[in-house]
Amino acid sequence: MNDSQTLAEHVLQGLRAKQKALSSAWFYDDEGSRLFQRIMAMPEYYLTRLEHSLLRERAQELAQWISPNRTPLDLIELGSGDGEKTLSLCRTLADQNVDCVYRPMDISAHALAELSRRFESDLPSMALEPTLGDYFEHWPQVPAGRRSVAMLLGSNLGNFDDVSAVRLLRRIHTQLRPDDILVLGLDLKKDPHVLQAAYDDAQGITAQFNINLLRRLNRELGMDFDLERFRHFASYCPLEGVARSFLVSQVEQVVSSSVLSQTFNFSAGESIFTEQSQKYTLQSIERLANNSGFRSIHVLTDPRQWYSMSIWHRVGQRA
Ligand code: AVI
Repeated sequence: MNDSQTLAEHVLQGLRAKQKALSSAWFYDDEGSRLFQRIMAMPEYYLTRLEHSLLRERAQELAQWISPNRTPLDLIELGSGDGEKTLSLCRTLADQNVDCVYRPMDISAHALAELSRRFESDLPSMALEPTLGDYFEHWPQVPAGRRSVAMLLGSNLGNFDDVSAVRLLRRIHTQLRPDDILVLGLDLKKDPHVLQAAYDDAQGITAQFNINLLRRLNRELGMDFDLERFRHFASYCPLEGVARSFLVSQVEQVVSSSVLSQTFNFSAGESIFTEQSQKYTLQSIERLANNSGFRSIHVLTDPRQWYSMSIWHRVGQRA
């Protein structure tokens, strides 16, 4: 099945449901990826900056946990993007003469090309083996007898609901061998005002990011969403520790798709649920590790404990 068939089925199902919903996985067309780059640079979106600082300023500590006694390793980054954040860690591993092969994976050929250029110019000594693809379907071939260190950064796990998050972690578990490592960057619960602002910024970039999903459906499924008639709404719930985003129809309206030969009715105020971003506590992260076949061995956080980077051991008997 190609991408547009998958999107068509997703939209049919999502817009026919009682609570309309579309997956945030579809945010990232070219324009969506550009808008996400702008989100990461916004003053309100602290996640990227804090994660970057942990990778830069605590690279030595991280290197010691993932490669004690300079254990040779394959560093598999799931959803690497352009590799900017990981460069400092790779540089530290190279400075310590760790035998490391960096294996970034991403669905964007453009991001991987950018990554290759960056490493070629800034760290040409690093062995680089990029894989183009979705980490739900592909996994790089790694030689037996070397430690794999998988990394899932950016609090990307938070975009999955609880069941899918554990399913993804279990999938990673099956790909790893006992004593391999998973490094997870996860956003922590904090003052709800801070979280609210991160998903509803003053400049309206997150709003454009959300609305861009409708632009994509107009282009790819011949839909006629009037972008002026939908509004971004984001709400952080401290009880559940989840930020949720919606697109709210401002009027009663009918939207049609020439590709799907379907119409969809919206009442005034009706919403499409488009994204969830789970926030964690250090305890909930530990529970997540235990529920998915890992054991948390070390956690790095910034001084305010706004963001975390956890190092998990894959539990299980050696074959
Ligand atoms: C990619 N993901 C972890 C981001 C998040 O924080 O949930 C996507 C995002 N959505 C709105 N702002 C950023």
